[in-house]
Amino acid sequence: MKVAVVGTGYVGLVTGTCFAETGNSVTCVDIDAEKVKSLQNGKITIYEPGLEAIFKHNIAQNRLKFTTNLAEGIKDAQVIFLALPTPPGEDGSADLKYILKVAEDLGPLLENYAVIVDKSTVPVGTAELVRERVARAATVDFDVVSNPEFLREGVAVEDFMKPERVVIGTKSDKAKKVMDKLYAPLLRQGNPMIYMEERSAEMTKYAANAFLATKITFMNEIANLCELAGANVDDVRRGIGSDSRIGKRFLFAGIGYGGSCFPKDVQALAKTSADFNYDFKILESVMEVNYLQKTKLMPNIKQYFDGNLAGKTVAVWGLAFKPYTDDIREAPALENIKALTEAGAKVRAYDPEAMDNVRKLLGNSIYFAKDLYDALEGADALLIVTEWPEFRTPDFERIETILKNKVIFDGRNLFELEQMQELGFTYHSIGRPA
Ligand code: UGA
Repeated sequence: MKVAVVGTGYVGLVTGTCFAETGNSVTCVDIDAEKVKSLQNGKITIYEPGLEAIFKHNIAQNRLKFTTNLAEGIKDAQVIFLALPTPPGEDGSADLKYILKVAEDLGPLLENYAVIVDKSTVPVGTAELVRERVARAATVDFDVVSNPEFLREGVAVEDFMKPERVVIGTKSDKAKKVMDKLYAPLLRQGNPMIYMEERSAEMTKYAANAFLATKITFMNEIANLCELAGANVDDVRRGIGSDSRIGKRFLFAGIGYGGSCFPKDVQALAKTSADFNYDFKILESVMEVNYLQKTKLMPNIKQYFDGNLAGKTVAVWGLAFKPYTDDIREAPALENIKALTEAGAKVRAYDPEAMDNVRKLLGNSIYFAKDLYDALEGADALLIVTEWPEFRTPDFERIETILKNKVIFDGRNLFELEQMQELGFTYHSIGRPA
């Protein structure tokens, strides 16, 4: 099939590349000329494990192309994905200006029937707005469907290629046929294509992310209570996760969720609720608890240094909001660095992928280390914020010789309590006895 993807951000680039990989002829469109040039030259613009290889392969096969020209990009396309940014506006609602502008531009350019797909996370009712904008100048038949994306950063290719489900919001049989054909190669294992009305599809995306954010937040609160009550959240997790109604995944307590999706989507759903005069109380609590959770270990750090961090140096392992990404949006590391520096401490940070992004944001106000041990040089304590695999089995003897004090504040519960005790470290983690 001939597919167009408008917007080459994270979702757009993964969508375009993966649909090229399943044999379609894909053209990705973006207004950012520099980005398009780089992509045309085979230089990938995001970090995502496994993506670069199939990106290059499909460019070489001539199945994946890039352009800044919308008319050229969508020419003859049977499916046009809109994968455009929906940044939160001042009131928390998703700003639709990019999507609606492209929808308006598309109308006069359509030459044949096409399915226009909302891939971005957009509030309930957006498909109707897009349809109305396209229709203003369209001279041919078209459909607008909602097809929310559930991929996770870091495992996006696998999530895309082997989706647990594909949700499509449309009532049009013509559009359903096109979407069935496009997704057939990805649903070979029998995972379902779930059709519903477009408003339900739009709501499904927010409900999924808000539910997962709530699940994590619930565990974070259980963890906080475990600390006070002398229980261990790891055991509680195992105890409840084996109940299939609860499930084992997304029960890991830590210093809060971040990223470009959960915070934004929880906020946007709260705004949607407010628009309908519905007081969605859980969402407000989730946002508040998560904000506080990000600096959960700060009181422990301060207490260790008798309330005075002035002149101290803290090594921070992990800057990305989670492993396998360089994404630092809403990353707990940023809140911790802010709290540490405001308290007068110096920070020596290390992250395998995200240091360039933090450098762009913070300049040289903190030290960017060459590796995890360099971060410890001259440091008084270690704070772990992201669970990169390379942090899981460090050389503790080396840590001991470099770090001034044998103290670790671990926001991701990487180490066993017994091990830390045997090694003689003062060890503060989340939801476990200190
Ligand atoms: C999330 C969803 O998982 C995807 O399904 C969705 O498509 C995506 O948002 C989106 O809307 O685009 P993502 O933000 O990439 O994906 O990351 P997750 O792996 O879901 O992690 C989100 C945050 O939750 C991270 O900060 C992670 O550290 C935290 N987390 C996750 C926990 O604190 N505990 C857990 O048990 C799991």
